[in-house]
Amino acid sequence: MEPARVAIVGSGLIGRSWAMVFAAAGFEVKLYDIVQQQITGALESIRKQMKELEESGFLKGALSAEKQLALISGCTDLKAAVEGAAFIQECTPENLELKKKIFGQLDLIVDDNVILSSSTSCLLPTRLFTGLKHVKQCVVSHPVNPPYFVPLVEIVPHPETDPSTIEKTYALMKKAGQSPVKLNKEIEGFVLNRLQYAVISEAWRLVGEGVVSSTDLDLVMSDGLGMRYAFIGPLETMHLNAEGISNYCERYHEGMRLVLNTFGPVPEFSGEIEQKINQAMSEKIPVVPQQLDARREWRDECLAHLAKLKKQMKSD
Ligand code: NAI
Repeated sequence: MEPARVAIVGSGLIGRSWAMVFAAAGFEVKLYDIVQQQITGALESIRKQMKELEESGFLKGALSAEKQLALISGCTDLKAAVEGAAFIQECTPENLELKKKIFGQLDLIVDDNVILSSSTSCLLPTRLFTGLKHVKQCVVSHPVNPPYFVPLVEIVPHPETDPSTIEKTYALMKKAGQSPVKLNKEIEGFVLNRLQYAVISEAWRLVGEGVVSSTDLDLVMSDGLGMRYAFIGPLETMHLNAEGISNYCERYHEGMRLVLNTFGPVPEFSGEIEQKINQAMSEKIPVVPQQLDARREWRDECLAHLAKLKKQMKSD
């Protein structure tokens, strides 16, 4: 039977967004935090966001904002929060010891059916879950910020995770309207951050070597590659940019290898280059909370429009 109740452990940025994702799909959501004030703030922020999304026509799901809000409640008692939950999504700060402590606590109170899932961006499942009694039920479900508008979720198993845990997590994410992908084994950075860091690395080297300005580098992505990547990935891009992958390799393998062999070492991300890029970015968006928040709001608005467009254009 499919789960109807989800517990979210940690009501910060990501926990709030997960709560909205699950409520939009009709799940009952318990939002747990150690700090009551955090929960109160989270519930207020979710209410405000949902009302605004409803007014602007971007609220997800078939239910009204009021009905979705009624599905979400807060709780500062871990045992009560996870009671009856079929799925627990941990969203506490990125700190191995803290997360291990929380999964240790959960391990003692959950039954053999619930799924224990972590939002961690970079902690490997073996580091988080090894030694837990319920390790077969543990998995990483790594979202992309903000999960409400960016649907990808990387599902990463521990070597002892039961295949049924992966399948149930995958099905639940689909039901919640997300776009899950399964990693067959854990790897540092998972897949998303490995791709992201490859791009950041080369961006850093190109600006550092004075090939292009920071602003123009970003434009290459937002007005170039990113236009395609919002709809098709790098492999399909290859497939379509020639008469299929094999033809692409035949035509371009030498050129690609020639360019790839000129890539420099892993950057230090410090010193003069950091100062140069920081100065350029700070001129564009000053590092003050108000300006950063305004730009984040604009980004999320763009993502909301893009999510809508992607839904309309869905071909698979
Ligand atoms: P955050 O700092 O905004 O929220 C963390 C929340 O956990 C706070 O509300 C805090 O009060 C609560 N907390 C602290 N100790 C706790 C405990 N013992 N039990 C229950 N709650 C506790 O952090 P954020 O950004 O939401 O990140 C959460 C997780 O999601 C991290 O593992 C992070 O790596 C991951 N993530 C974050 C992304 C981002 O862009 N912020 C993107 C993808 C994943």
